[in-house]
Amino acid sequence: MAMASPSVNSHNVLFIFSLLFVFLLSSLAQQSFRPKALVLPVAKDGRTSQYLTRIHQRTPPVPLSLVVDLGGRHFWVACDKPKYISSTFRPSRCGSAQCALGTHSYCGGCNGSPAPGCNNNTCVLSGEETVTRVDFNGDLGSDVLSLPSTDGSNPGRMVSVPQFLFVCGYDLQLERLASGVTGMVPLGSTNIALPAQLSSAFGFPRKFAICLPSSATSSGVIFFGDGPYNLLPNIDESQSLTYTPLLSNPISTSAAAFVGEPSYEYFIGVKSITVGDKLLSLNSTLLTIKSNGLGGTKLSTVNRFSLGT
Ligand SMILES: *[C@@H]1O[C@H](CO)[C@@H](O)[C@H](O)[C@H]1NC(C)=O
Ligand SMILES: *[C@@H]1O[C@H](CO)[C@@H](O)[C@H](O)[C@H]1NC(C)=O
Repeated sequence: MAMASPSVNSHNVLFIFSLLFVFLLSSLAQQSFRPKALVLPVAKDGRTSQYLTRIHQRTPPVPLSLVVDLGGRHFWVACDKPKYISSTFRPSRCGSAQCALGTHSYCGGCNGSPAPGCNNNTCVLSGEETVTRVDFNGDLGSDVLSLPSTDGSNPGRMVSVPQFLFVCGYDLQLERLASGVTGMVPLGSTNIALPAQLSSAFGFPRKFAICLPSSATSSGVIFFGDGPYNLLPNIDESQSLTYTPLLSNPISTSAAAFVGEPSYEYFIGVKSITVGDKLLSLNSTLLTIKSNGLGGTKLSTVNRFSLGT
């Protein structure tokens, strides 16, 4: 895994993590009555520095604490422990349209008694615990996901996605995550990550904004859909953002990626880094994405400091 991250110095850590980034992925707009935007809270775990959010899934709804992964590919939760109980869970069958949304799926079975994470004729996708970069194979399934809508200022009425797709992982993959966490929320640019699934369920632009808390005592937020993004009363942060293009990396270096697969993470074109007024002496070839996908500057919420060639 190699990248030149702007997090190599504290000035840029602050720059990257205190700004509100807007990710404009594409703008597909469908017409019908829908919430204009959705919102999730973000907290920083003091022990691991992981960013956590809370979202409800299943019937009856269970509040889940999940690690936010900006470059994540699949939504996954442990289905074995704590035991997954829901009357609305459905395994995604091999060859189904749901299965086709994931790339590189295969057909799996299970010898145990049927349960979420153990079904025959089920679509299997690779999940990834991106904190320690462990990938695993898990059954694809769907269930109700609920989160609050917003007018840009306050959380409003809860809305649901009836057949939200996710991968069943195992409690083994939770070991290095913050305590109480049962999975990960992906914000990557795949067709099955959270922004794409929310945008196709509610017909708003495939766009989100994230404000990460700088400490365990402050709070952050993720908006899905259009602004305003009122973090303070009557101050729309979307009006004061600084913009830079997102770069695509032709080859993913993520652990769960398949050979030659394009990256679904977010890269920006950092040209130089100054600390105070001093230009950091850095071989600028590190800042360029190479043809094998290495190098460049990746935005990440799970790997804080990483510099490689
Ligand atoms: C899967 O099929 C096999 C063979 O028919 C069967 O023994 C097993 O119990 C089934 N597993 C589930 C989870 O239904
Ligand atoms: C910068 O790095 C590249 C690739 O690692 C290397 O070929 C080049 O010589 C380096 N340039 C300098 C000025 O160190």
